[in-house]
Amino acid sequence: MNDDVTVLLEKVSKTYQMGEVEVKALKEVDLTVVKGEFLVALGPSGSGKTTMLNCIGGIDSATSGTIIVGGHDISTFNEKELTKFRRETVGFIFQFFNLIPTLTARENVEFALDLVPKEKRGSAMDVLEQVGLGDRANHFPSQLSGGEQQRVAIARALAKRPPVVLCDEPTGELDYDTGIMILRLMRDIAQQEKCNFLMVTHNSAISQIANKVVHLHSGEISKIVTNDNPEDPENLVW
Ligand SMILES: Nc1ncnc2c1ncn2[C@@H]1O[C@H](COP(=O)(O)OP(=O)(O)OP(=O)(O)O)[C@@H](O)[C@H]1O
Ligand SMILES: [Mg+2]
Repeated sequence: MNDDVTVLLEKVSKTYQMGEVEVKALKEVDLTVVKGEFLVALGPSGSGKTTMLNCIGGIDSATSGTIIVGGHDISTFNEKELTKFRRETVGFIFQFFNLIPTLTARENVEFALDLVPKEKRGSAMDVLEQVGLGDRANHFPSQLSGGEQQRVAIARALAKRPPVVLCDEPTGELDYDTGIMILRLMRDIAQQEKCNFLMVTHNSAISQIANKVVHLHSGEISKIVTNDNPEDPENLVW
């Protein structure tokens, strides 16, 4: 496989069996993401965005097909290998931040780092500084605004310097200005760290900041558009 390919999906299908009913959440999805690409996947509710992201991140397993991430063929992985993969190779950023309420910002980042081998660990304070929260390190999530909590979540995802960062509606709970600020932070980090961001959203305006836009409909990719001149997040309007 070409070294520049960080994520490769080949005929990936996911079917949920709900009693008698089969839900085909993904149908033979093919996708290639190359190094440095900032990808946005768009689609209406129920189109399979979260399912695709969770299969790439090893949170969910595909029913069939091949998924290669950072050189690992995770479709062949057992539970133990998947756990190691999730801890070391991918960073997750969710809509509802998912911080641990009883830990401070710094402890939330350190907690994630504890799971990473020593030689791969960065410093929690360094990443909190990077997202502009050095002075809030000792605050608990309840003492932080939504945008600040999402920045802690970004710091947590980045602390292990993952080659691939997966984001599910990361601005869904934020007001417009804060959402733009978070998108700008992600775009800057993607450029500095040369890591891949894969973001799913139903907000089509956000797709303007992407190098590659994937349109999902009923579990199928209906269109892939590449964009050589992505827009600056500060110019987005929605
Ligand atoms: N754990 C599950 N069990 C059964 N069906 C599921 C499960 N997760 C998702 N589905 C179904 O798979 C389809 C795709 O769901 P998915 O969550 O990927 O959509 P989505 O595009 O992320 O939607 P949204 O924009 O609302 O978050 C939907 O029909 C959903 O009901
Ligand atoms: Mg979803």
